Amino acid sequence: MIVILGAMDSEIGSFLSVMDNGQIRHWNGFDHHQGTIEGRAVLVSKSGVGKVMAAMMTQHLIDDYRPLAVLFTGLAGSLQPQIGIGDTLVARDLVQHDMETSAIGFPRGQIPFSDWRFIPADPRLLHLASDYEPALGKLHVGRICTGDQFISHREMSSHGYLAGELAGDGVEMEGASVAQVCAVNNVPCLVARTISDKADGSAAVNFEEFLPRASHNSLDFIRYMLPQI
Ligand code: ADE
Repeated sequence: MIVILGAMDSEIGSFLSVMDNGQIRHWNGFDHHQGTIEGRAVLVSKSGVGKVMAAMMTQHLIDDYRPLAVLFTGLAGSLQPQIGIGDTLVARDLVQHDMETSAIGFPRGQIPFSDWRFIPADPRLLHLASDYEPALGKLHVGRICTGDQFISHREMSSHGYLAGELAGDGVEMEGASVAQVCAVNNVPCLVARTISDKADGSAAVNFEEFLPRASHNSLDFIRYMLPQI
């Protein structure tokens, strides 16, 4: 089976609307929707927002279902002028931007006393995704920065360490933690995001506007990926 996650209900809504033979299992207040999409066995769930919720859910689902792959979708802010609202950003690699321990000698993003910093996407899933042609907007493959912050200032996004030291293309709040849990467990993982905002002063308004249709774009992507995995 393939696990498909999004942080919020509106980021997984479209997947549920096309699921066949759907059954719900409850786990600690979360609904896990099992069924088929494009003929493939899937489990669709909300993870909750932020790194802790996403890591917790990913580890639980890996332990219980040992999936073939984990796909994480939803919204992200853009850190680069050429990546526009409505575009799709597939993560080549991901980093925790709020892991900051320079006082004890580690570069931003590095988990101290480990080799973990930029966590690569599964190469095969990334290769498949690279040929995707979105109906709306453009496809970009790049670096996603993850942290427990909604970024809404240009000083932090395009002018700060996100686009500077970390050379990020997009910012969100779950991807790197999911990718790391999958890497530790040897489960292929891919994170693909629709750009909802530019991580600037308009970000909160743009994000709120985008949220109701957050999963529409992702559904096309998921339908493209599933038969090939
Ligand atoms: N998800 C979508 N936009 C975001 C932003 N600007 N910061 C963090 N996560 C986001």
